[in-house]
Amino acid sequence: MTPMTTAGLLHALRQRLGVDQVLTSDHDLAPYVNDWRGRFHGAALAVLRPAATDEVVQAMRLCGQAGVAVVPQGGNTGMCGGAVPVGARSQVVLSLQRLRQIEQVDPLGNVLTLQAGVTLAQAQEAAAAADRLFPLSLAAQGSAQVGGAIATNAGGTAVLRYGGMRDLVLGLEVVLADGQVLDLMRALRKDNTGYDLRQWFVGSEGTLGIVTRAVLKLFPRPTGVATVWLGLDGATQAVQLLRELQRQLGDTLTAFEFLDRRSLDLVLRHATGVVDPLARPHPWYVLAEVSGGGDGAALRRALEQALLAVLEAGLAQDAVLAESERQRLALWRLREEVSESERRHGASLKHDVAVPVAAMPELVARVSATLPAQVAWATPHCFGHVGDGNVHLNVSLPPGAPAAEQDRVSQIVYDHVLALQGSISAEHGIGQSKCAQLVQQRGERAVGLMRQMKQMLDPQGLLNPGKVLS
Ligand code: FAD
Ligand code: MLT
Ligand code: ZN
Repeated sequence: MTPMTTAGLLHALRQRLGVDQVLTSDHDLAPYVNDWRGRFHGAALAVLRPAATDEVVQAMRLCGQAGVAVVPQGGNTGMCGGAVPVGARSQVVLSLQRLRQIEQVDPLGNVLTLQAGVTLAQAQEAAAAADRLFPLSLAAQGSAQVGGAIATNAGGTAVLRYGGMRDLVLGLEVVLADGQVLDLMRALRKDNTGYDLRQWFVGSEGTLGIVTRAVLKLFPRPTGVATVWLGLDGATQAVQLLRELQRQLGDTLTAFEFLDRRSLDLVLRHATGVVDPLARPHPWYVLAEVSGGGDGAALRRALEQALLAVLEAGLAQDAVLAESERQRLALWRLREEVSESERRHGASLKHDVAVPVAAMPELVARVSATLPAQVAWATPHCFGHVGDGNVHLNVSLPPGAPAAEQDRVSQIVYDHVLALQGSISAEHGIGQSKCAQLVQQRGERAVGLMRQMKQMLDPQGLLNPGKVLS
């Protein structure tokens, strides 16, 4: 068969998807070929905006015939450049933003069926309207899509109690590289019939298939909530505090986030309408939340009692309890604005790492001591998800920081992480920014097996080339 020309491909795509849904002008392409941090810039032949699974199928078939690679894109909020095309103007971006239908909320089955382009915030709202909770929460939830969160196996601030995306997906529909639809749309809590193909696609960052629909788990919607902001002496106390609060409060402890003073300073400097809620500065801060049934009064009493004990034991130095929903949201903003404030401050090196929870203080101590000693400008700010052992050890870049020094900084962080049996990507994925570290992290044999899976599912290398496996 004669390969299709570029003009022929664009013409056929316009016929199938509609003239307005195949974008080609530089102006139209710009939001899709640059990432939100301004760190990754690409070029594309076109942006495709299908509105249904069938249109995704047609787009994949046509691109396959033309030998043109496809970059699936959700909300483009990813941290590792996974949704940004690489290379010259040779790939197309396939945006899932028009697949945004909530298909069914089933309160009895506790499941939510939807299309992949629904945002996390819309999924949460749909669940809440049926008096249920869809728990995956992160600061970008207004833009990040369910499909993107599945493709990156996103974590966020509720993993401690509800798990990450991998734990929340019951069913999936995936369009494969050859245009076939893999229907895994089950709503089953148990299903041991052979290999779990669904999990192949969770965290595969658009390199194995395009997620078009999903069935997600729902939970009872908490009616009571109490939130506290604590000032601490250090990371060691943060882990001890977590375990002590869990001991006293059990599973009602649904969030336990932390940030250091440098991170809070970034927020106080760059976010609007925020204030430091404590009278004096502390080296570390924790935001803890309990939630559950009832009106919250009993939860609050239990939290107050636990706080007295942890303050008495010296695990925290000071604490402020939210007295209203407005105050609760104000405390959350101090945590959720870190990434955006960091971006406003300038470019940064992001290290989204995880170690076993008990080793987190040791990691922070090692990195904080060795980094600035080896590269003068490299003082990290730390924040993240204590309960998951997931620290964001990010480093703001001074203008003109040499690329070799930047690589050295990341390598120092990663060496400490690996020495503590950790992961160089806890929740953001590999994208195009961490491909070089994958073998060091996972070993030749595991990466070799990943390459075989990729070859089997996408022999032409059409899906998101240059990502995860370079
Ligand atoms: P995109 O950025 O569009 O894509 C990400 C990857 O998934 C790409 O490789 C893309 O090709 C692929 N992809 C997207 N959609 C599909 C699909 N339908 N099928 C197949 N592949 C697809 N992440 C966390 O885990 N925890 C956090 O706490 C967190 N906080 C954040 C805070 C801020 C302020 C921001 C901006 C981001 C944060 N992130 C966090 C990162 C990001 O929001 C998540 O990775 C999110 O899951 C990405 O979703 P998206 O729809 O924007 O995906
Ligand atoms: C967060 O937890 O806020 C993000 O995952 C971290 C980041 O921006 O590096
Ligand atoms: Zn995070």
